[in-house]
Amino acid sequence: MSYRDKINMDRIPQHVAIIMDGNGRWAKQKGKARTFGHQAGAQTVHTIASEAARLGIKYLTLYTFSTENWNRPADEVAALMALLIDSIEEDTFMKNNIRFRIIGNVEKLPKDVLTRLNQCIEHTSKNTGMNLILALSYSSKWELTEATKQIAQEVKENKLEIDSISEKVISAHLTTNFMSDPDFLIRTGGEIRLSNYLLWQCAYTELYFCNTYWPDFNKEELWKAICDYQQRERRFGKTSEQI
Ligand code: IPE
Ligand code: IPE
Ligand code: MG
Repeated sequence: MSYRDKINMDRIPQHVAIIMDGNGRWAKQKGKARTFGHQAGAQTVHTIASEAARLGIKYLTLYTFSTENWNRPADEVAALMALLIDSIEEDTFMKNNIRFRIIGNVEKLPKDVLTRLNQCIEHTSKNTGMNLILALSYSSKWELTEATKQIAQEVKENKLEIDSISEKVISAHLTTNFMSDPDFLIRTGGEIRLSNYLLWQCAYTELYFCNTYWPDFNKEELWKAICDYQQRERRFGKTSEQI
C-alpha cells in the first residue's frame, strides 16, 4: 500500500520547507561529477513541486543555494547558476497554477540569472495555487542582520518606537513576511542540521530528516514524510489535554 492512501487531506501542512541535500554524494556514488547530481536534483524539484501543489500545500520553500555555498569551487557555483536558468519551467508552473517567488540576497546573483527569475516571478504572479519559493543566496543570519538594520533605521527616523518592536514586527521585516512559518521541514541527505535556514521561522516547526539523497527523493518519500507529520501532536508549549 502506498503512503498516499494514508494521507489525511484535511491535515496537509500549509507551509513545507525543504533542505534539498545530497546531490554531490549521489553523483559521487555513481562515479559522476557533482554537477550531474545537481542536474538530477533539478528534476526532483519539478516532481516534488507538482505533487506538493496537487496535495494542496500552500507554500513550498526550497533551500536552493545558501550564502555559504558561494564558497564552493567557482566551477560548481557557475554550473549551479547556469542550471538555475535552464531549469525554470514556466510552462509547468502555469499548468499547475504555481506562483514562483525567490527569497535571499538575490542581488548577488549573476544579472542574467536574476533577469530570468524575475521574468518567471512576473509571469506567474497571478497564479493562485501553491507558492514555490526558492531560497537563493539565502541564510538566516544574513536575513536577521538585514532586518535588524532596517528596524534600527526606522527607530532612528522616528518611524518606530523601541517599545513597539514585537515578534510580529521582526517577522514583518524578514524576507518570508508574505507567508506563515513552516509547519514542516524536511532535510534529505542524512545530515541532522539546519545549515542557517529559516532559524527564526522554524521556532515551532516539525523537523524531519531522511537519508535519501535529494535526486532519489520522490513522491512516495514525500507522502511518507507527510504521514509522519500527521502522526505528531503540535502542542506549542501546552499540555496534550489542552489540544
Ligand atoms: C545540495 O546538495 C545542493 C546544494 C547545496 C546546492 P550538495 O551539493 O550539498 O550535495 P552533498 O551534500 O555534497 O552530497
Ligand atoms: C544546505 O546544504 C544548503 C542547501 C541545500 C542549498 P549544504 O550541503 O550546503 O549544507 P552543509 O554545508 O552540509 O551544512
Ligand atoms: Mg550538502
